[in-house]
Parts: sequence; structure tokens; C-alpha cells
Amino acid sequence: MSVKYIIGFSIFLIVLVACNIYFYYNLTSVNKHVILSAPRKVEATSSVHKDIIDHVYNLPNEYKVKNPNFTPLQRNLVQSFNASVINNLKSVWNYVDEWADDESLFPHKDGAPGQILQAMRASQIALVDNAPKGTQLKLLLLLEGKQKLLFKPKRYNLTHIINGHIYAGFDRHNSEVFAYYLAMVLNFKWVAPVITRRINIDQEIMRLATPGLKKTMVKNEGGRLCIYGKCYYCKINETVCPDSNGELEGAAILYLDKQFRIHKSPWRRSYNSKKMEWEKDNDFCKKVGMTLSTKRILNLVDTAIFDFLIQNGDRHRYEIYKEKIVLLDNGKGLGNPMVDVLDILAPLYQCCIINFSTWQNLEYLSGGSLTETIKLLSEFHGEKLTTEEHYQAIERRLLKIYATVQYCLEKHGSGKVFKNVVAL
Ligand SMILES: *[C@@H]1O[C@H](CO)[C@@H](O)[C@H](O)[C@H]1NC(C)=O
Ligand SMILES: *[C@@H]1O[C@H](CO)[C@@H](O)[C@H](O)[C@H]1NC(C)=O
Ligand SMILES: *[C@@H]1O[C@H](CO)[C@@H](O)[C@H](O)[C@H]1NC(C)=O
Ligand SMILES: *[C@@H]1O[C@H](CO)[C@@H](O)[C@H](O)[C@H]1NC(C)=O
Repeated sequence: MSVKYIIGFSIFLIVLVACNIYFYYNLTSVNKHVILSAPRKVEATSSVHKDIIDHVYNLPNEYKVKNPNFTPLQRNLVQSFNASVINNLKSVWNYVDEWADDESLFPHKDGAPGQILQAMRASQIALVDNAPKGTQLKLLLLLEGKQKLLFKPKRYNLTHIINGHIYAGFDRHNSEVFAYYLAMVLNFKWVAPVITRRINIDQEIMRLATPGLKKTMVKNEGGRLCIYGKCYYCKINETVCPDSNGELEGAAILYLDKQFRIHKSPWRRSYNSKKMEWEKDNDFCKKVGMTLSTKRILNLVDTAIFDFLIQNGDRHRYEIYKEKIVLLDNGKGLGNPMVDVLDILAPLYQCCIINFSTWQNLEYLSGGSLTETIKLLSEFHGEKLTTEEHYQAIERRLLKIYATVQYCLEKHGSGKVFKNVVAL
């Protein structure tokens, strides 16, 4: 080997080492920069999540077994959904304008919920139109007897799993139906009745369709009539088509002919990679408290609990009727039974307050009673609402809600966490 070659090779090695040192130095300084400048508040958020999960593992046993105090309540609920046969379906809609009182949007005693659901399912359809408001395809069904239903067609099978963002995909029709039963079991009465209904595309849609709706129908390659509808995201290539029986399945939601006031949720998502304030600041609730009343925040906490159970991460706005949040638009739930996005509970763990009656209702539903009751109520109406995996997921999420309240109790004590305006 020549001397020249050895010198050349040595220089090459020295340059190589120098380069390495240079890159290593840059790399570590970049890392240091990232670590030092990472907002401490983001770290705080993930440490709250960790605390909550620790509480899941240390939950007192009472939250894992059934609460015997729920038995009489469950019996009442089951009775109110066990409808006797109605002779005159139209009579169910009498006095519909007077249904809402201060406690509930709809009558919920003496079998009324069961009768309303039955009338929603069995009433003849008189007219079908597009329901053009909103981002997703919906139809408006006018029933004989003049009551209206909103119809959200099925887009996915019950076993279909939605991956990606919490708000990804089309609305799930079964999530709408499930949400109604869930609300009833949680004793949240500011919700519209929903059923699964199958409608025949020729007999019940084409024959009764308005000219406007007919314009948004096309034949697919199989020669079947399909609908693409009229809405913000409606596209001519994204139709809904009938099944092999010529029927469209969907969620039929009782139409509320009321004036709602619409508000932006303080805990809305950005729908892009930008982080919202609530995602960075665990003291965010203090700011919310400067603009919203405690009563409204408690209502948002109730809504967050409801949304967390079904994993609806899409409530960027909410509707108010008689100063209470109406649980409308619940189609973005039941996307993936393997995932629990905990930050849907941010209103609960950031404000650490909860309406005491909401907490009592949650305590009644431990040990499997929540999903058992949903199944009991929906079975009267022949509904299979979702898969066993989703039912298990909801029980798992209920434990996380208990754990979040335990986290708050440990931090602030029951005097601060439980709010009961009646006692104030
Ligand atoms: C439902 O109602 C029917 C008829 O009134 C009754 O026979 C049945 O026992 C009820 N079911 C439940 C679970 O209460
Ligand atoms: C739903 O399931 C049926 C049969 O089980 C199948 O034929 C159909 O392709 C499925 N649809 C979707 C959208 O996965
Ligand atoms: C429908 O067309 C739009 C463009 O107009 C496209 O972005 C979308 O992916 C298409 N959808 C399907 C299901 O092919
Ligand atoms: C707490 O919940 C009960 C029962 O739903 C309700 O009547 C009451 O108005 C709620 N209190 C507040 C402050 O929201």
C-alpha cells in the first residue's frame, strides 16, 4: 500500500468523523430545542390521561358490579317501552306540539315512548323529499297524520370499522338509533326518538318523491334506482342504493318542529392539524367559565359523557331549546369498538364538575346494567343496534368515566365536583 493512499484514506476518515460529530451535535440540539420548547401544557394533558387510566385500574369494586338500586328504575323503563298495540296510529300525533315540558321533549311515561316508536315505524308515508340542511344525505318523510321524520340512510354494515380521525366517514345510521336508547337509559330526556326503518325504493320513495328528490336519483350499473341527495358533501358518485329486496334501511328520527339556537362548542376540534386551545391548556375551563354559566357547562359535561360512550367526536356545535342542549346529530358514534378517544371527556376532566343527578344515574348503571337495559328496550322494537364488541366497548368506557370522576374527586373533593343546583 502506498503512503499516498494511506494519507488519503486517513483524511477521508477524519472528514467522516467530523461530519458525524457535526450531525450528532445538530441532532441533539434539535432534540433539546424540541424538549425545552414543548409547551408544558401539552405534557399536562397527557399526564391527566395517565392519571385517569391509573384510576381505572384502582376503581372501587362497586363500579364493577350491578347496583341493586337500579332494579326498580329498570323495570319502569322497560314498561314504558313495552307498547301495547295501537289501533289508530294517527292519534299518537295528537297534541304533538304540546309534548315538550320542562323535563322532557317527549312524553316518557305510561308506555308513551313505545307507542311513539311504533307509530314512527308503522305509519304510512305520504311524501318524500330531500332534507337539504346539513353535510350528509338525509331525506324528509312526511307521514300520514302530518308528522315528519328525518331519514338517514345506512352507509355501513354493523360490523364495519371506521379507521382514521374520530370524525371520519359517513354518519352511521345505527349510531343515531343507539344514541336514543342510550340517552333514555342515562335519563337524558332532551333527545328525539329514533327507530330503524326500511323503505321500499319504488313503492315508498319513487312513487311519493317530490320532483326535487327525483332529480337527485340515478340508476346504477345494476339498473337500480339510487339516491345521491342534496347536502353539503353530497356527490353524484356517492349514492345510497337499495338492498336486494329493493329496500333502503336507515335511521328515522322524529322531526322537531322547533326553533333551536345554535352555539359553537368551546371544546370543538380544528378538523386540521392545528391544536385548539382546549387541547393545549388544562386550565381552559376557567376561560369557558367567563362566558358560559355553570348550568351550561354542566350540560356540556353531560353531553361529553354521552359522546364519549358512543365516541362521537364531532359535536363542534350544539343546539339549545329551552336553555338545554338537545342531543341532535349522533351519527358519528360507534365507529371503532377498539378505540377510546379520551379527550372527548375534556369538559369533565378540565372542569371537574358534574351534575349530581347525572352522577347518581351513572352509579346506577354499573356492572353491565347500562348495555343490558339498552338491549332490553330495543328488543321490544326488534332492533339489533350494534355488535357485541361495541357493547363491550361502552361498558369499558363507562369505567373510564367513573375513573375520571374519581380523578376529580381526588383533586378537588366532592364539595367542588358534585353540583346540584336544586340544593344550592
Ligand atoms: C310487556 O307487555 C306485555 C303485555 O302487556 C306483558 O305480557 C309482558 O310481560 C310485558 N313485558 C315486560 C318485560 O314487562
Ligand atoms: C354488508 O354485508 C352484506 C352481507 O353480509 C354484504 O353483501 C355487503 O357487501 C356488505 N356491505 C358493506 C358495505 O360492507
Ligand atoms: C367521487 O368524486 C369525487 C370528486 O368529484 C372524489 O373526490 C371522490 O373520491 C369520489 N368518491 C368515490 C366513492 O369514488
Ligand atoms: C341536573 O340534572 C337534573 C336532572 O336531569 C336537572 O333537572 C337539573 O336541571 C340539572 N341541573 C343543572 C344545574 O343543570
